[in-house]
Amino acid sequence: MTSVDTMSSEGLRNAMVDRLAADHAAKRLVLRPEVEAALRTVPRELFTPGLPLEEAYDANTAVLKKMRGAEAVSSVSAPYLIAEMIGQAANALGGLEGRHALEIGSGGYNASLLRELVGPSGSVTTVDIDPEVTGRAAACLAAAGYHDVTVVCADAEHPIVPGRRYDLIIVTVGAWDIPPAWHDQLTDDGVLVVPLRTFGMTRSWALRRRGDRLVSESRRQCGFVSMQGDGAHEVRYLDIADGVHLRLDEDQRVDHDLDVVGALLTQPREEAWVGVSLPPATILADLDLWLATRLIHETHFLVLSAQATAVKSGVVAPGWRFGTPATLDDDTFTYRSALRWTDRRFDLGAYAHGTEAAAAAGRMVEHMRAWVDAGQPSPTLHVLPAHTPDGDLPNGAVLDKRHSRVVLAFTTKEKGTP
Ligand SMILES: C[S@@+](CC[C@H](N)C(=O)[O-])C[C@H]1O[C@@H](n2cnc3c(N)ncnc32)[C@H](O)[C@@H]1O
Repeated sequence: MTSVDTMSSEGLRNAMVDRLAADHAAKRLVLRPEVEAALRTVPRELFTPGLPLEEAYDANTAVLKKMRGAEAVSSVSAPYLIAEMIGQAANALGGLEGRHALEIGSGGYNASLLRELVGPSGSVTTVDIDPEVTGRAAACLAAAGYHDVTVVCADAEHPIVPGRRYDLIIVTVGAWDIPPAWHDQLTDDGVLVVPLRTFGMTRSWALRRRGDRLVSESRRQCGFVSMQGDGAHEVRYLDIADGVHLRLDEDQRVDHDLDVVGALLTQPREEAWVGVSLPPATILADLDLWLATRLIHETHFLVLSAQATAVKSGVVAPGWRFGTPATLDDDTFTYRSALRWTDRRFDLGAYAHGTEAAAAAGRMVEHMRAWVDAGQPSPTLHVLPAHTPDGDLPNGAVLDKRHSRVVLAFTTKEKGTP
């Protein structure tokens, strides 16, 4: 193995893993011991050449970003996200030892963690569309002593080795759809972990193959660079004010004059509150998908994103500035607001601007109250082939993608039941 400054490397690595363990605990997730051991073993700086050691061990930041214009097209992913996604895979498969894994989107670091976890009887293949990335990943893996990871340069929209199947496919690039190749390359009860965009919001879903469909077992909030190649799908950002954007999927439209929408933000703000007191570990990423599935039927649903400067200056105060549910009706703009904290607990609210502001904020808050009253249900994602007839779909909100029909279902508990 290449010589590195072992003391400071090991110290920083252990400090990073301690932070990851604390972060998992705060989110009420379990950092599996074998995942923790792998994180304490792999020297991350060997996969971030040229970067200061401290930056290589920043738990929360993706590094070595390759930009195309203003958009990042590749990076070495943030350790916290890598740890959560490997955890999703290990939980779904009951451990990774002896498993055969395909990683889509290379960098070397995630592949080496997987290599540690699958052990001598398992295998790891990593594929990337960008020869510069595969070249760097292969060199870094070799330098770190991982000679038995197969590195392939290809568009992973299509099968990598025809006929070969994997227990785990872990996608480390943002997808809009599930191409048939991913389903077909899984073993019969194999698991696909994929950051998939639904309703303009990306979650890392652990999906288990069940016959011709995939059904989710867990989800995590995440953000990723977008898929390139044949599975590429445009995301558009419409600027409505300085540092404030509406994020649209390819199939979403806004017919309003954007200057008029921006001007709404300068009108007085109405607010409404659910009137609850929730603990920090509440999974608001689930609430946001709940809101999407409810609001999409009654109004023009959108996702609001904002730069830190726009939040700081008070132009907008969204629940999560990287993507918050919003609605736009005639001349009223409404979004889930920043939380209102009292004694380390918080209330949920909505802000609205425009002629119907008070009523619109109240309506959004009613949907939030329904989620709380239903016991804060989490979503299950079903992915079915594009030709599936309506009658064979599970109950839920249906999104028709290019290759698949995606159904997002919330199982609500009766009020008062545990
Ligand atoms: C976030 S990076 C991967 C990070 C990596 N797994 C790590 O260990 O840090 C995403 C990668 O996906 C690759 N990618 C994008 N579209 C792809 C496609 N269709 N097939 C294969 N790779 C793709 C990009 O070139 C980019 O390098």
